[in-house]
Amino acid sequence: MDSVAIIILAAGQGTRMKSNKAKVLHLLSGRPMILYVVDTAVTVCSDNVIVVVGTQADCVKAVIEKEHQVSYSFQSEQLGTGHAVMCALPEIGDSVTNAVILCGDVPLVRPETIVDLISRHENEKNHVTLLAARIPDPTGYGRLVLDQDGCVERIVEERDATSHEKGIDVINTGIYCVDRQFLSHALKHVGRDNAQNEIYLTDIVGIAVSEYKRVGFGLCADLLELTGINTADDLLKVEAALKADETS
Ligand code: UD1
Ligand code: MG
Repeated sequence: MDSVAIIILAAGQGTRMKSNKAKVLHLLSGRPMILYVVDTAVTVCSDNVIVVVGTQADCVKAVIEKEHQVSYSFQSEQLGTGHAVMCALPEIGDSVTNAVILCGDVPLVRPETIVDLISRHENEKNHVTLLAARIPDPTGYGRLVLDQDGCVERIVEERDATSHEKGIDVINTGIYCVDRQFLSHALKHVGRDNAQNEIYLTDIVGIAVSEYKRVGFGLCADLLELTGINTADDLLKVEAALKADETS
């Protein structure tokens, strides 16, 4: 996996958790959420993992450093997921062809799923490959807007979606494999004209489509694996599902 780097986004405060603790430090079954994601990243790509830290950066780094050796980028202001990735780009070596992006708040994604995503990306010769999922309740997630042929046109966030778009049940898991050169090019063109006034990473999809680049997606069948944790309630639900899995 020399040609792949993994970027983990972990700089956000996690306002929706309503807690003073940075979201990725919250415990899931007794272990800080961020460690699940770093474990997975290191399994796939042992020596090329970059964690973007910001909120309580020193604490997040200290938790990771006890178990893993990774690189860090610092995002001083949380201007959005696209901006967080921009902060990591200088850490990526020129020999890297593709960057995989993981979210620190999507803790249960498995290494096999990431390896499959990278294979799909390479086999389909895509510029962007998304990990998506079809879920019964897509509330809160970004939705994949597909054209008549089932190809991705763009991603729309819940807060920017029309009521029709909110009805789409194919969601963005926040996990991507992107051609490194395209990623750095596209991020220069992402604006902040959205409901949250943030630099959305998801906007690189629409940019890729407008430039006739290849965009693909794979569907993840395991709903627990792709669950994003934004609220204390999400955390409790995932913890309960994990426990149920262990006892079944
Ligand atoms: C994001 C995606 C959404 C997707 C969902 C999957 C965007 C704009 N939206 O939404 O399409 O369905 O994840 O779970 O990307 N972070 C930073 N710096 C920032 C902002 C965020 O490092 O400035 C980190 C957070 O710490 C978190 C991750 O990025 O680990 C995702 O951020 P979050 O605010 O949770 O995004 P969602 O609203 O869940
Ligand atoms: Mg989230």
